[in-house]
Amino acid sequence: MSYYASDLLTGRVALITGAGTGLGRRMAERMAGVGARIALVGRRADKLGEVARAIEAAGGAAAAFPADVRDVAQVQAAVDGVVARFGRLDILVNNAAGNFLCPAEKLSPNGWNAVINIVLNGTFFFSRAAFPHLAKDGGSILNILAAYAWLAGPGTVHSASAKAGVLAMTRALAVEWAPHRIRVNAISPGPIHTEGTDKNLWSAAPDLEARIIRQVPLRRLGTADEVADAALFLSSDLARWITGQVLPVDGGHWLGNGVYDWNPARGTAAT
Ligand code: COA
Repeated sequence: MSYYASDLLTGRVALITGAGTGLGRRMAERMAGVGARIALVGRRADKLGEVARAIEAAGGAAAAFPADVRDVAQVQAAVDGVVARFGRLDILVNNAAGNFLCPAEKLSPNGWNAVINIVLNGTFFFSRAAFPHLAKDGGSILNILAAYAWLAGPGTVHSASAKAGVLAMTRALAVEWAPHRIRVNAISPGPIHTEGTDKNLWSAAPDLEARIIRQVPLRRLGTADEVADAALFLSSDLARWITGQVLPVDGGHWLGNGVYDWNPARGTAAT
């Protein structure tokens, strides 16, 4: 099912980091489905190749540009490669992330650095390298946040700190690069099922998923498709007057259920 015109991104080139799996892959497929040519960036060439082949088999255009977002030289080479291949760059999605749950006092300096380097530094390195191309005809940067960037989230101090930095970066660059007609927004996905979240997050405790579902007003985990639809909206001209904003796509998760957790439809406390 498509909610958007099939030519919404025709003529545009979108670079998506962390595009080999999960949410990144879904965003790539979604944008390709409405006409964008897709530059797939990630560490694993085999995974990127799989996604490129799937997009091409569905009638889209995509190419893989393997790079580690932590490495400035690889980032620059990837952006140069995209422009050499496709001739332009209009949309950047900073999706690559590193995450695992770990008590703060047990987190090693290397573990801290790994996540800060991927999430915070990687987002800036790609934004900076993409700037001259996005500034040519106006463009869009979309960052991926998590509500624990502004709420407490035990076990996430490394990722929360990095994402809070990305939130500040989203607002700072939105204002600084507005004169260049570059919009910078973010999505804050709530708990969703992907290969990565299933492996790294929801399996951390046997009842974790059930407990999280009880905290979501819409009472379910989300899907990568639901986040990809919001990403497509913010990256397209439909959002041409929106910049510096964070859109939670989370079934109301970050708001919680209210103090009484009461469901008026049933007249009982929600379970
Ligand atoms: N708990 C505690 N520490 C952990 C950990 C965990 N589950 N996983 C990794 N670390 C630590 C490692 O022990 C290491 O520190 P040390 O040298 O002091 O032992 C440090 O993090 C770096 O780990 P390493 O595996 O060498 O780094 P990497 O660069 O290969 O991987 C990660 C980066 C750790 C962020 C890895 O989880 C990753 O690549 N994730 C990408 C995918 C992802 O997480 N997506 C998000 C889905 S929600």
